[in-house]
Amino acid sequence: MIRLGVNIDHVATVRQARRGAEPDPVAAAVLAELGGADGITIHLREDRRHIQDRDLVALRQTVHTRLNLEMACSDAIVALAMQAKPDEATLVPEKRQELTTEGGLDVAANLDAVRKTTDALKAGGILVSLFIDADIEQVDLAKSIGADAVEFHTGTYADARGAKVADELAKLHTAAVHAARAGLHVHMGHGLDYRNVGPIVRIPGVEELNIGFSIVSRALMVGMERAVRDMKCAMTEHYPNKTRPQ
Ligand code: PXP
Repeated sequence: MIRLGVNIDHVATVRQARRGAEPDPVAAAVLAELGGADGITIHLREDRRHIQDRDLVALRQTVHTRLNLEMACSDAIVALAMQAKPDEATLVPEKRQELTTEGGLDVAANLDAVRKTTDALKAGGILVSLFIDADIEQVDLAKSIGADAVEFHTGTYADARGAKVADELAKLHTAAVHAARAGLHVHMGHGLDYRNVGPIVRIPGVEELNIGFSIVSRALMVGMERAVRDMKCAMTEHYPNKTRPQ
């Protein structure tokens, strides 16, 4: 079964709107795990717009599944990761003005920084995933610098309409098969929701999805545990050999 990593950044976005103590991402993580999350994902951004340093520490102490830290190639964030020791780090590009991560990491254009960050994290026993577009050259570079996994950016697929949907799926399919053959773990994420997740779980080789905004949005209405359970059902519904989620 494909793992679901629940990104809880936007629980912290609501908290930071008042710079208060709630809603607490730790409570959200506990409920997400009760709903069947296979992992918890957070992005400690350099501008700290949602997740804060102490969330990372508290979540490391409380997450029982897997903690995945999304981060830029920054020495300061690497230092925090080395202290907290998430199970996995996903390297992402970061721009201060963006609303959310707008595209994959350009490994070719940032080779030295990505390699240095990957080496440091791996030396600390942290698995490294690179968030990239569905591009064969980026996959090959990820492999060559020793990444354990790649996470393909599904935002363009999520935004596509009409015939473009099939084009974007075909690109993701080709890149996923290439990455799996190269021995990389294959993850996908960004912009996935209850309606568009189906075709993604049918792509061969996909092991993990990281989904945030749609789950947190639904959680506002129905609660986190149910929102996660609903997503697990949406994923299972389309999975080739269906099994009910726990
Ligand atoms: N994966 C990565 C690498 C991301 O940067 C994000 C957004 O923080 C996500 C997955 C989740 O995207 P969304 O919130 O659109 O589900």
